[in-house]
Amino acid sequence: LQQLLWKDPHAPPVVFHWFPVIGSTITYGMDPYKFFFANKAKYGDVFTFVLLGRKMTVCLDTKGNNFILNGKLKDVNAEEIYSPLCTPVFGKDVVYDCPNSKLMEQKKFVKFGLTNEALRSYVTLITAEVENFVKSHQAFKGQKGTFNVPKVMAELTIYTASRSLQGEEVRNMFDSSFAELYHDLDMGFSPINFMLSWAPLPHNRARDNAREAMIKLYSSIVEKRRSGQVKKESHDMIWHLMDCKYKDGTPVPNHEIAGIMIALLMAGQHSSSSTIAWILLRLASKPHIIEELLEEQKSVLGEDLPPLTYDDLQKLPLHAHVVRETLRLHAPIHSIMRKVKQPLVVDGTNYVIPPSHTLMSSPGVSAQMPEHFANPSVWDPHRWDAGSLNFEAAEDDEKIDYGWGVVSKGTNSPYLPFGAGRHRCIGEQFAYTQLQTILVAFVREFRLRNIGGEEGVVGTDYSSLFSRPLAPAFVEWERRNKEN
Ligand code: HEM
Repeated sequence: LQQLLWKDPHAPPVVFHWFPVIGSTITYGMDPYKFFFANKAKYGDVFTFVLLGRKMTVCLDTKGNNFILNGKLKDVNAEEIYSPLCTPVFGKDVVYDCPNSKLMEQKKFVKFGLTNEALRSYVTLITAEVENFVKSHQAFKGQKGTFNVPKVMAELTIYTASRSLQGEEVRNMFDSSFAELYHDLDMGFSPINFMLSWAPLPHNRARDNAREAMIKLYSSIVEKRRSGQVKKESHDMIWHLMDCKYKDGTPVPNHEIAGIMIALLMAGQHSSSSTIAWILLRLASKPHIIEELLEEQKSVLGEDLPPLTYDDLQKLPLHAHVVRETLRLHAPIHSIMRKVKQPLVVDGTNYVIPPSHTLMSSPGVSAQMPEHFANPSVWDPHRWDAGSLNFEAAEDDEKIDYGWGVVSKGTNSPYLPFGAGRHRCIGEQFAYTQLQTILVAFVREFRLRNIGGEEGVVGTDYSSLFSRPLAPAFVEWERRNKEN
């Protein structure tokens, strides 16, 4: 009755629920995609649901993606939503704890630091980390065995991302003090912190202590480097940020370098470790694709499989398609949120969304719609083979310059795992470089298959902010090279 009495002719339909504050929290939280698709069928592409007392308005499909992700600054706002959660993790004056114009400058610093030269050097560093890992990690003792993919991949990507992007000092600290600090800081992203990030709970105290300790560690790395004790021999992001200046001429202070590095560590780690875990799990369910990948490497790079270079990656389309197809079905970010700043008419509808609502976009929905992808639930990297699909921005698609890059509005693309608009990901190239490099090394080293050769893959764990495979998820591995 309450829901009927509230009815405003311009309000989107409200998802039916029995309890006022809880609303749809449980059904959404258990499986957001199931929830989105079920309500899309019932109510259409625009509907409102109650999440922990907040009114969330979901706008789906390409029009919905575009409406939210390309929303104007005066209409929609990200930092009001993300700051309570992120600022206690990243620290002051970075990302969402500053005006959007400053975030745009910080994104520009990072984007400009990810040069081809830097990425080229990362391929070598990442390959060395993976080779060392598959030789020495206890999960890979002997000629064959099983390993818990999500857990082992989370460990590996910490090493690969820290060695390349974060630099040698941080990488070496991950063998000792840093790992624990990282863990404590990560607890700051527990889902209950969406409501209670301010609360003096034990995990929040641990988070705050870890943040302070990490800022000190990064600052000491910067100071040591500035004093000339460390030679500049690598292309890591700390060196790059030390040379950056804001438009008004001020250099980036140490605590901001630290904050940006923490933000990159967090943004990169969860998304990349979940994606590489899905890649290996999907491959284990279709082992013939692993052999196709090895064939691709041999035919393009040579039978003797020489050390991988950055330029080689551009010549291995099936490897790229494996990443692309995995991100279509398993984009690690399933919901993107914005606060409504003033009453907004949803493009092409009569709905008006009031400022009391939060907008929610889920590009993963359009990526799984049969209108855009034939047999959408089938994981098939070959669907991306030359000419069969092309969602690259059309020449005449509208472009916007955000300072950190000229971005196509991506208005019509149903495939946006890296988002769109001013908050779009700047880590895409790094992510592809890292994921493909790990993939190349794994294909060279191992055959993988599901235990007992079964088909199918595990379900998704949506209980944290970034979705990931339900753990444990073991697969069988066998080394190709018997001499190892
Ligand atoms: C933003 C996805 C890897 C850094 C985003 C957004 C998405 C995304 C969907 C938009 C969020 C929003 O609009 O609210 C991914 C995926 C990744 C990945 C799927 C890997 C498979 C990375 C990596 C880094 C990174 C490796 C760092 C090196 C960032 C940053 C932003 C961002 C700085 C901007 C946040 C903002 O402007 O508000 N990412 N990301 N990401 N990502 Fe990534």
